[in-house]
Amino acid sequence: MALPSFQLWLALLLLTAACASAVHPRKLARLGGLKRLAASESSSDLPPEYEIHYYGQALDHFNYKPESYATFQQRYILNYKYWGGANASSPIFVYTGEEKDVTYDVEGFILDLAARFKGLLVYIEHRYYGESMPFGSENLAFQNSSTLGYLSSEQALADYAQVIVDVEKNLSAENCPAIAVGASYGGSKSI
Ligand SMILES: *[C@@H]1O[C@H](CO)[C@@H](O)[C@H](O)[C@H]1NC(C)=O
Ligand SMILES: *[C@@H]1O[C@H](CO)[C@@H](O)[C@H](O)[C@H]1NC(C)=O
Ligand SMILES: *[C@@H]1O[C@H](CO)[C@@H](O)[C@H](O)[C@H]1NC(C)=O
Repeated sequence: MALPSFQLWLALLLLTAACASAVHPRKLARLGGLKRLAASESSSDLPPEYEIHYYGQALDHFNYKPESYATFQQRYILNYKYWGGANASSPIFVYTGEEKDVTYDVEGFILDLAARFKGLLVYIEHRYYGESMPFGSENLAFQNSSTLGYLSSEQALADYAQVIVDVEKNLSAENCPAIAVGASYGGSKSI
């Protein structure tokens, strides 16, 4: 049998990396990463350049069962302060939210990136955290294994893709590069 080629090893390595990044949020919860915060604990004290928006997000991106067409309001935040605009094809920096209220993530190095590259800032909240609660409330969302079945990093990635496409369309910014940035668990999803 021939030895596996370098390409095959590389493919396997990438696959392993991809699997490793698909950490289930519930696993994170057991590791102590789960922070459940009341929606009212945040958002009001954001500086004025941060605009809060909501996107009618699909509960389930991966099958066609009737209940998959249910939606929930996913929160995301825009900051246009540095943006060079769609006509200049200025970049869009997307912060892929992690397992917490997204309003805690609006500071940090991504601001320096936006200032330097005239970027639009988009912070997208992770489903089941902050205000982005399927089933209408945190208690219902975390009720049992079937309501929690839609909490996964795969669903979260698909959420981010939907929001990015919608924001770009709305701003006629389809030609602007979107660059995903994140930290910790959220960062593993921006690869
Ligand atoms: C962007 O380009 C379009 C088409 O050329 C033009 O109509 C629009 O006014 C421009 N917008 C800005 C903000 O310059
Ligand atoms: C989970 O909760 C929902 C909503 O109350 C209920 O309809 C469903 O039957 C429950 N499922 C299980 C497996 O307990
Ligand atoms: C999208 O466009 C509508 C109508 O112009 C506006 O009300 C809404 O705030 C926009 N959303 C975003 C994310 O810019």
